[in-house]
Order: sequence, then C-alpha cells, then structure tokens
Amino acid sequence: MKILYSNLVRNIEKIVGKYRDDGIFVVIDSTVYDIFIDIIESLRSTGIRSVYKIVAVESAKSIDEAVSLWQWLGNEGANRQSLIVNIGGGITTDLGGFVAATFKRGCDFVNIPTTLMAMVDASIGGKTGINFAGLKNEVGVFTDPQWILIDTDLIDTLPYTAKADGYAEMLKYGLISDSDLLRQTYDIDLENIDKKLLSSLIKRDIEIKQYLAKIDRYDRNERRALNFGHTFAHAFEALAANREIELTHGHAVAWGMVCELYLSVIHYKFPKKELHRLHSFVKEHYTAIPIGCRDFDEIYAFMQHDKKNTINTINFTLLEDIGKFHCNCKSSKDEIYEALEYVFL
Ligand SMILES: NC(=O)c1ccc[n+]([C@@H]2O[C@H](COP(=O)([O-])OP(=O)(O)OC[C@H]3O[C@@H](n4cnc5c(N)ncnc54)[C@H](O)[C@@H]3O)[C@@H](O)[C@H]2O)c1
Repeated sequence: MKILYSNLVRNIEKIVGKYRDDGIFVVIDSTVYDIFIDIIESLRSTGIRSVYKIVAVESAKSIDEAVSLWQWLGNEGANRQSLIVNIGGGITTDLGGFVAATFKRGCDFVNIPTTLMAMVDASIGGKTGINFAGLKNEVGVFTDPQWILIDTDLIDTLPYTAKADGYAEMLKYGLISDSDLLRQTYDIDLENIDKKLLSSLIKRDIEIKQYLAKIDRYDRNERRALNFGHTFAHAFEALAANREIELTHGHAVAWGMVCELYLSVIHYKFPKKELHRLHSFVKEHYTAIPIGCRDFDEIYAFMQHDKKNTINTINFTLLEDIGKFHCNCKSSKDEIYEALEYVFL
C-alpha cells in the first residue's frame, strides 16, 4: 500500500492506467460529487467506466447498500482486475472498501479521503465494514487499499463540525503517543487552519496508525491503543441511533475520550490536569450528547456488545500518562457509571 500526498489529479492519473481495460469504478459521496464535479469530470478521460453515488449517512453502511454496489459492479462488467476508487469520508471508504474487498473475492481499490476523519483514520489501517443488527462495524474485513491519495485542500469545504470530528482522532493520536504531538494538535485552529502544520500532523498521525496496524494487524494488543475513547464512543453511537439522535463518530469519540481519561485517572493516576484540559476543550468545541442517568443502563448494555470484549468483560484502552497506554483494561460497572456521571451530569 502506498500513500501519495497532494496533487490529487496527477496522482490519480499516475495510478489508474493499468486498470483501464478492466474498468475503473468510482464510488463517491454524492455531496462530494457535487462539490468537486470539475475534478470528477477531468478524471473521465482517465477511463472511468461508471460512477456510483452514495448518500453518506451512517445508515448507508448497510448490507442493502453493499448488495446494491455488488449488483452495480456486476451489471457494469467489473471483474477481479478492475479498480474501485472510493472518494468521500469514512462512510464511503468503509463501505466502498468492504465492497471492493469482497467483490469477486477482492479487487484493487484506492481511497481518496475527503474528510479530516478519513484522512487521519478511516481510510488508513485496512479496516472496512458495514453496520449490522444495530451494531457499528459489525461485519467487515481487514483489507488494505493499493493506494491512499491525500490532498488536504479537499477539506476546505467541510463544515466546522465535520472538521472537529477528524480533529478528535488527531487529539487521540497525541494522547496515546507524545506530548509534543498533543501540544501541536491543540495549537491547530479549526476556524483558520494552518495547512502546513495540519499536513505535517496528518503525516505523523498516519505513521502512528500504520506502525500500530503493522505490529498488530488484527487489533488484539498494541493496535488497541487506537481504540482509546472508542468503547464509550461506540456505545454513545448505538444509543443515538436507537433514539434517532444525530451523533457523528468523531463527536462520540471526543466525549468517549473524556470518559476514558476519567477511568485512566482512577486506574493509572493519569494527570488530572490533562483530563480537565480535554474535558473543557470538548465542552467548548463539541455539541453535548443528551445523556442522563436513566441512559446509563442502556449505554452499559451496548458496551457489553463491543467487538473488543472477551466473554463477560468490557475492554478499554487507558492511559498512565500521555504516550503511555495500557490495552485490554477492565473497569467495574460502578467505575463506568462514575465516569458517565462526571462527564454528563
Ligand atoms: N475504518 C476505520 O478504521 C474507521 C476509522 C474511523 C471512522 N470510521 C468510520 O467513518 C465514518 C465517519 O466518517 P467521516 O467522519 O469521515 O464522515 P462521513 O463519511 O460521514 O462524512 C461526513 C459528512 O461530510 C460530507 N463530506 C465529505 N467530504 C466532504 C467535503 N470535502 N466537503 C464537504 N462535505 C463533505 C459527507 O457528505 C457527510 O455529510 C463512520 O462510519 C466511522 O465508523 C472508520
């Protein structure tokens, strides 16, 4: 797998050539299609055979949408040597990657992330998948794209809240790896992004993810550092989906990290001042999730379904300090409820 930065159109032209005869198939977020219509049109000459637009809402990461995509590929004559180009945020790269990884037992694919979340996280690391039975990413496979093309100019059109989503994952990289990276990440002003600084941080974040994915591809040990904040986050997302409340993954992660830092203070004496810093930052920049004590039992029940669990335990990644993580940690029900109380009541 190769990651190419900047010069999007030139990079696409460079890589698609050998797939022309077998067909290049584009799966694209419909919003992105409308915004970047000029780029898409300029790529037509590279031999794109067909374009499938998806509406990038979480419910599109479904078995029904995967079936539609498999049917589309079959009807348009795609074969195992064809290339699938996924253009969009994490919803598009998760779904498009899953379809590419399974169609004809797997075709080559390229991810072109158009959100900050997909640049630093979703398009990297080989996890593809769909939601199933009300659970996030319940069905999927580990498969890397052949290329990832990153061009930070694509995020200029993102609304603030979507930038904040990716930024939550960037804070996570700082927290799990080093205080210098965390400091520089806090320095980014999302209202007025310093692109040079952002690009250098994205590269560092990607290196961290690639390193962890390399030493622990199937997410059993060290890679679980990347799940920091995610045990709570996935439960918040499941609760929101049940209640039909809008909640993005990045916002859920931001709040989930505060809860898991609270558990880190209890278990590992993580510095309280860093917990308070993150908590104030999240309160200021992320929409609150309407959670009250009546929701705790449901959140706890969702946590018990998390893929990271072993039988009868809920699994967390906790921090001893910035850059010092512990994977596969347990916490009691009382401690989990205490964290929820601290953050939400
Ligand atoms: N596979 C992984 O390792 C991994 C990691 C993190 C997140 N994810 C998944 O990623 C998904 C979230 O992804 P996301 O936050 O990138 O968002 P997304 O794909 O949901 O896109 C967010 C919104 O931004 C719009 N959009 C996308 N690019 C745009 C652009 N350039 N300009 C304007 N609007 C644009 C989309 O239409 C959508 O409305 C979740 O399903 C999550 O589970 C997967």
